[in-house]
Amino acid sequence: MRNILVTGASGGIGTALVNHVQSLGWRPFQVDVHGGDWSADLGVPEQRTLLCERIARSCDVLDAVVCCAGVAPPVDPEKIVSVNFFGVAGFLGRLLPLLQASASPRVVVVTSIASVHPVDAALMDLCLAGDELRARERAMQTGALAYASSKAALARWVRRTAISSGWADRGVLLNGIAPGTIKTAMAQPLLSTGEGRDKLARATPLAVADYAEPADIAPLLAFLASADARFIVGQIPFVDGGSEVLLRGEAPV
Ligand code: NAI
Repeated sequence: MRNILVTGASGGIGTALVNHVQSLGWRPFQVDVHGGDWSADLGVPEQRTLLCERIARSCDVLDAVVCCAGVAPPVDPEKIVSVNFFGVAGFLGRLLPLLQASASPRVVVVTSIASVHPVDAALMDLCLAGDELRARERAMQTGALAYASSKAALARWVRRTAISSGWADRGVLLNGIAPGTIKTAMAQPLLSTGEGRDKLARATPLAVADYAEPADIAPLLAFLASADARFIVGQIPFVDGGSEVLLRGEAPV
């Protein structure tokens, strides 16, 4: 049995993952802002610290962590950056000792197709420098670019961290997935209006017939969190019904 910590476990993608890993016989520890086994606001530094302390008191080993927690507009840009970037990057490093105690530790981070949308480079730099206060200030100026910037910064953080000391060299394999539009509460405000659907059609065009259900991406998350994902390091596949290819064509290989 694998111990797996899931953040955003009460959300659409998190719930689908929890259901999937339970069907595999794994033991999920669920974190969410309200509810789950441990409730914590990952957008608040002190709560991240308290959460890590509670996790360390409760288990000796973590086989996998999957970070699904995230927020999107109309949430304030500063909150978006604190949850989506620092609620992952400012949290995972402190779980490394518990992960290193596993025979096959895996970490999976949920980024977004938005990481290929226009971003604010200065905001990304502040995130990657670990400067949460200034990143929050910058996000308020950046406004609508905060979500894409937080996810693009996270994608870069995955690549740089996956190969840094204490991770792959200690067997802790870090990867991500970048979903396109998934039919969850987060996408619902856009899916429920004609204007929103037009916006989605431009931002996440589809090569397939329809947007995905959360259960469509849970198996890939579970695979990347499993002992079977043996040689994958720092990769972030787009799981998006073709959106990234339609947006970027053949260029980035
Ligand atoms: P959701 O809104 O259903 O779930 C998000 C979960 O995160 C909720 O349970 C929420 O309570 C939790 N959460 C929010 N703020 C939190 C905080 N401060 N601390 C702890 N937990 C917090 O949305 P969904 O779709 O399941 O999103 C999961 C991830 O997938 C997010 O990171 C999102 O950015 C990403 N994503 C979603 C897409 C979509 O179309 N639904 C597309 C691309 C990425």
